[in-house]
Amino acid sequence: MRRLSEEDLLWKRLERYGKSGRYPFHMPGHKRCNHPFTEEFPNPYGIDITEIDGFDNLHHPEGILKESMDWAAEVYGSDRTYYLINGSSCGILSAICGVSNYSDKIIISRNCHKSVYHGIILNNLKTVYSYPQIIDKMWITGGISAKDVEKTLKNNQDACAVLVVSPTYDGIVSDIRGIAEKVHQRGIPLIVDEAHGAHFSFDRGERKRLFPMSALDCGADVVIQSLHKTLPSFTQTAVLHVRKGYVDIERLEWYLQVYQSSSPSYLLLSGIERCIFEMNERGKEYYQGFEERLRRLREGLTNMKCLELLGENIIGSYGVYDIDCSKIVVSCRKSVLSGEALGKILRDKYGLEMEMCGADYVVAITTFLDTEEGLCSLRNAFLEIDEWLIQKNKRREKSSCTEFWPGRRAEIAMTLAEARKGRWERLKIKNCAGRISSEFIYLYPPGIPIIAPGERIDQDLIGQICRYKEMGFPIQGMEDHKAEYLKVCDMGSGNQSDHNRSKDDED
Ligand SMILES: Cc1ncc(COP(=O)(O)O)c(C=O)c1O
Repeated sequence: MRRLSEEDLLWKRLERYGKSGRYPFHMPGHKRCNHPFTEEFPNPYGIDITEIDGFDNLHHPEGILKESMDWAAEVYGSDRTYYLINGSSCGILSAICGVSNYSDKIIISRNCHKSVYHGIILNNLKTVYSYPQIIDKMWITGGISAKDVEKTLKNNQDACAVLVVSPTYDGIVSDIRGIAEKVHQRGIPLIVDEAHGAHFSFDRGERKRLFPMSALDCGADVVIQSLHKTLPSFTQTAVLHVRKGYVDIERLEWYLQVYQSSSPSYLLLSGIERCIFEMNERGKEYYQGFEERLRRLREGLTNMKCLELLGENIIGSYGVYDIDCSKIVVSCRKSVLSGEALGKILRDKYGLEMEMCGADYVVAITTFLDTEEGLCSLRNAFLEIDEWLIQKNKRREKSSCTEFWPGRRAEIAMTLAEARKGRWERLKIKNCAGRISSEFIYLYPPGIPIIAPGERIDQDLIGQICRYKEMGFPIQGMEDHKAEYLKVCDMGSGNQSDHNRSKDDED
């Protein structure tokens, strides 16, 4: 057995990393910073208890947790708000299972997070996709329009619910009010994965809004928000809000019990409550200062020549209803740099860690806990890199289509669950053209399937996966961690155990 030295222990590594001076432009939203809010919190061991007398039970709340969640519902203006300690993922699973019966049909936007697809598999749902448009100059996904949803609903009158992601990982917001109207005309619920928009709810006060309105205020029936992504809250903390009318609340609550731990952490629960309390009390003040810092950052980045900031000029096209200006999305599509290379320069030369590096862009998450100094170093780093690219004349001759998946409409040959659970064989990826995938393939982050089980694989997709591999991207979802072999559906006859096999198909 390998001996683990004390210095190798995870908490030691984390502590060392915390002192390394690397600046986090990623989640969690508290940014590990020195702020009275983070400093006042007690020693985690001292407040880590279980469901002892007087401290209620998250799965059967009757005391302080019930009171706390009822108070939170008032803060948010929902009919019910639930604290989630297994991230938005468990809220998404519960929402999907809570609004559907086994084998129902659901309409979802194709750019959903993998947790949505997992929920669909759990309830064996048939999926119909609403495809976001592609913002081609940056090659990121745009929004879903109310018109698109209306059309999809018209062709699928038996759908039990609609689920869209807004904002996306890149901060793109769809017209939730318009979509909710269309969905409600059919008498079914709208679920919004607002994992990246928890901060929208606290943009209050008389001044012009800094952030878009929360989906809850735009008429969505179930809204799931990760507090940990953009607010000062511990990783894994999230909330789920429900409005009465189109959702069976008791049924949804049952699924929350299924998908949440039976030993919910009081550390996380108290962190959730404290975050909501703080934002409700002082959010307005925090956002005022943040608005100014964010404005300076974004203005400083508007005139880059080789790099390009995703800005408000995109609103109104590509289905984009609004953008989350706290997401700093910088495209390097006009330069010779890949997103990975840009992220590496930012990390190695400037000590700035991004949230995500795509093929052609990087994403930095900013929150009101970012310091002026931190935001200035981000701006200066981008400007210096842009200048270097100009001087070296490092523009891309012709923009190649390196990003790929979002607009792709693969043939859906069977449901996700059928493809996941049926017979399969494992083939080298290069030999999978024409076959139906039995596995997911996604880059993590952002965890949006490039291919989902049940979709037919084509040569373009294979080429793209190979390019991602060459570029060293984090390809996940397949059992083969080296991403060389893929499980595809075996359509032959015979019994399952005979067919579930790896084929050594060298050619
Ligand atoms: C769009 C989206 N939805 C849901 C999730 C899941 O959230 P959580 O990590 O809080 O479970 C993620 C995670 O990154 C996400 O990007």
